[in-house]
Amino acid sequence: MADTIKLFVNGVEVEVETGKNLIDAIGAVGIEIPHLCYHPALGADGNCRMCLVGIEDGRPPLVPACKTPAQAGMKVLLDAAHIKKIQRDVMELELINHPTDCPICDQAGECKLQDYYMTYGRPESRMTVPQVQKSKKLDFGCGVVHDQERCVTCGRCVRFCREITKTGELGIINRTDDARVNIFPGRPINNRYALNVVDLCPVGAMTSKDFRFKQRVWFLKKAPGICHGCAKGCNITIEHNREKYQDDIIYRFRPRLNRQVNGYFMCDAGRLSYRQENEGRLLAARLGSQIRPLEDVLAACTREIEQAGKIAILLSPNCSLEQMVAVKALAAKLQASLSGFSTGYIKEGDGDGLLIEDDKAANRAGLALLGIDCSRESFEKAVRDAQLLINFNNDLTRTYSDSELKKLLKDTKVIIAATHDDRLSAMADIAIPVATSSEYAGSLINCHNILQTFAGAVSRNHKPANIGEIAAKLGSPLQSRAEQFAELRKYLSVLKDFEADTVPAEGLKLNESEAANVTA
Ligand code: SF4
Ligand code: SF4
Ligand code: FES
Repeated sequence: MADTIKLFVNGVEVEVETGKNLIDAIGAVGIEIPHLCYHPALGADGNCRMCLVGIEDGRPPLVPACKTPAQAGMKVLLDAAHIKKIQRDVMELELINHPTDCPICDQAGECKLQDYYMTYGRPESRMTVPQVQKSKKLDFGCGVVHDQERCVTCGRCVRFCREITKTGELGIINRTDDARVNIFPGRPINNRYALNVVDLCPVGAMTSKDFRFKQRVWFLKKAPGICHGCAKGCNITIEHNREKYQDDIIYRFRPRLNRQVNGYFMCDAGRLSYRQENEGRLLAARLGSQIRPLEDVLAACTREIEQAGKIAILLSPNCSLEQMVAVKALAAKLQASLSGFSTGYIKEGDGDGLLIEDDKAANRAGLALLGIDCSRESFEKAVRDAQLLINFNNDLTRTYSDSELKKLLKDTKVIIAATHDDRLSAMADIAIPVATSSEYAGSLINCHNILQTFAGAVSRNHKPANIGEIAAKLGSPLQSRAEQFAELRKYLSVLKDFEADTVPAEGLKLNESEAANVTA
């Protein structure tokens, strides 16, 4: 528990954390101080003046809350007439040249300017001269589209590129009402986190080419998820919508604050990986090239398992811990070899020390925790010795070329439980569609030994089964997520006081001995 102090807001005593500015300290107890240029990840710039408050201790009549540390006994005034006037005046100033294009603006519904206009004064424009016109729809690169007329020159986007990515592609040029954000001539944004400026922009001046005009934000349902794009496990919000008579579609991933994992941001590749949840999916179970009911296909799998002398089972390093224990139990029951071989998921040198990791697998630590062999030698030997390979969604095309795969699998029947219909599922004798990570609940351990859980967000019309359910249908004794989670407690004492749905939102840091198992 952090140290706290007591201070007064509009005469009412509140207890807040120490070491914070007034916006964050008071905001944490549910009292909003309006602000445009301040962002906790970028610090205080003090340029917008929207956060001016009064302090009753002889200071100047107004101070910026973003630059004022909360102190014990402070008497903060938010509702005095002169504070309300300054908020209204700042709103009027911001809106002098702002176009009234909320009906066609992507930010409508999540725009600070729109919200603050409604909350802090609704000023009428007193301008009798034409508005200053600036450029619209500027392509800044990396999928970022800029509208100079909507910009309130808060500088968040500029500071992000300077302070977080340290690439400095953006600047504010000119002064007063001619000030505008721009790139340098011929030098577009060029970093792997560019789309964070769209989230950071408090108004609709930075929009995403990918998301523009696809959905009104108030139609989107939001659910917490974990990005499976690499071993970092950034926390995300999965934003989806089911239009009448249509399927549930994901429209965007956005970063969700987790101070011990990803802070406020995520990379663009992870952000755009939502597309893979929608596209190229394996939608029907197949025997050879024939589409058949899932029950028939599972019955055919059972026959193949009974007939095979030796069975090899392969797991994806993206499977959840629950899926891994379920498949491990299946392998033990069938006396099959079990492998998590997946070197193709590792892109040496791709990590950048910010968020992006070399390892593009979300749960390799889970394989280590459960003692699952990941060596090439043992996997290839097991496949050569086996009559049947059951592959739980491990994308072997990342590791082998098509000709290498054909050679490796030439004497082995292949059952694949796959999310996507691709070259690998086309090579399989039996293909079973399974859910992607936005469609089931599970747990992962990231590259910093933090165990995180996620809940299924999306409910598709075709409702593919979770890999854990398929393993159960093929004979795994762990039939439910509750049983799988109970099995996990044997490996992780940190889970003894938790159920799958009570793990804290920020995740559980594994203790030293458990982390040693994960990294061994
Ligand atoms: S584009 Fe958005 S984030 Fe950048 S300065 Fe303008 S209002 Fe601020
Ligand atoms: S850094 Fe990794 S986990 Fe985070 S958003 Fe990017 S791909 Fe996803
Ligand atoms: S948020 Fe304090 S001056 Fe902008």
